[in-house]
Amino acid sequence: MRDPRPPHRLHNESESPSMPTAPTARRPADPLDLLHLYRRVRADTAGLAAPLSDADATVQSMPDASPAKWHLAHTTWFFETMVAVPNRPRYRLFDDRYGFLFNSYYETVGARQPRPLRGMLTRPTLEEVAAYRRHVDSAVETLLESGPSAEVLDLIELGCHHEQQHQELLLTDILHLFAQNPLRPAYDPSEPAGAARNTPVEAARFHMFDGGIVEIGHGGNGFAFDCEGPRHRTLVDPYALADRLVTNGEWIAFIQDGGYRNPLLWLSEGWATVQAEGWWAPLYWEERDGEYWTMTLRGMQPVDRAAPVVHVSYFEADAFAHWAGARLPGEAEWEHAATAPNRGLRQLSGDAWQWTRSAFAPYPRFAPGPGAVGEYNGKFMCGQFVLRGGSCVTPAGHARPSYRNFFPPSARWQFSGLRLAKDA
Ligand SMILES: [Fe+2]
Repeated sequence: MRDPRPPHRLHNESESPSMPTAPTARRPADPLDLLHLYRRVRADTAGLAAPLSDADATVQSMPDASPAKWHLAHTTWFFETMVAVPNRPRYRLFDDRYGFLFNSYYETVGARQPRPLRGMLTRPTLEEVAAYRRHVDSAVETLLESGPSAEVLDLIELGCHHEQQHQELLLTDILHLFAQNPLRPAYDPSEPAGAARNTPVEAARFHMFDGGIVEIGHGGNGFAFDCEGPRHRTLVDPYALADRLVTNGEWIAFIQDGGYRNPLLWLSEGWATVQAEGWWAPLYWEERDGEYWTMTLRGMQPVDRAAPVVHVSYFEADAFAHWAGARLPGEAEWEHAATAPNRGLRQLSGDAWQWTRSAFAPYPRFAPGPGAVGEYNGKFMCGQFVLRGGSCVTPAGHARPSYRNFFPPSARWQFSGLRLAKDA
């Protein structure tokens, strides 16, 4: 992929989303619950990296993707820098050079290894990074057991959700790396294949929504990233939303109908990208003896026509919707529908991130928090589009209906697909 686009989020480290609205008015997490969450999240990350060799975990396949070792260390740096250093007076840095290596994009914190050169970090070794994780874990756990303030609890909770964002990135980045290897290695051969491959899929049904003045955005006491609020009112015209995601079978019809060769379907920038990159199908697709195959975390697999299409950019999603006589949903339409009970919408979360046609922009009255934490999301509100839902590699329980993932319109290495919308 091309894409020397500026590092998006910390996350972008390609992460997606967000830091908390600085001083929060909500109730802080219970320290014991948070200790359990912390331990689980940290163990989950280590588990995801367990199948990887030091070499697997070191190489960087493109500037947008980061090495697994970097994800392991950066999430630890986050806890060390934001939690341990400011709140434990006698905390000893594990290595005072790591701040430069593993700061992602925090100008407030200081200079850093250039993002495209993260793959040069053959040292520290994977083993040394594991020791770094244990060192910081000990400090954070001690802090959690010492009756920390609400502000510290908020930061630790944020660090856990931040690390979950990196868990997804670790997998999307490993998939991209392994897809560059002619051996097409499987990250996890035991990953279950899609249950009913190529089973016929019923035509999508469009559900009507009246719209009106609706409320969207995060409310209540649970955790959310800052960009998910404030909750606010917005005007939505009557619309219809498909009850399921667009499938690979439908995408094949788009390909075979010349979708990638018809400039009339494409945004100007999208068509330029198709030409420049030679796009003819979703990322990772190959044609072998008249069959479509795709790279997955299980290695190369035949494309399942019944499964939701993934690894398509905003440009492709928009062109497909145009071809299908529909459009992409706005994020307010998506959220309003997702929170309406009993409307029969399927695949809202857990299959693919769903492109919306909404630019990633601040909600009314949004203000980034002070200091480093304020750099989490707000400064990326330019030139990116919102995705809703959650994918098959999003950690369980991480996303919610108000969750705003975001990527530039040409990005396709995430598990990104689409749901069609229409004007009513
Ligand atoms: Fe990050």
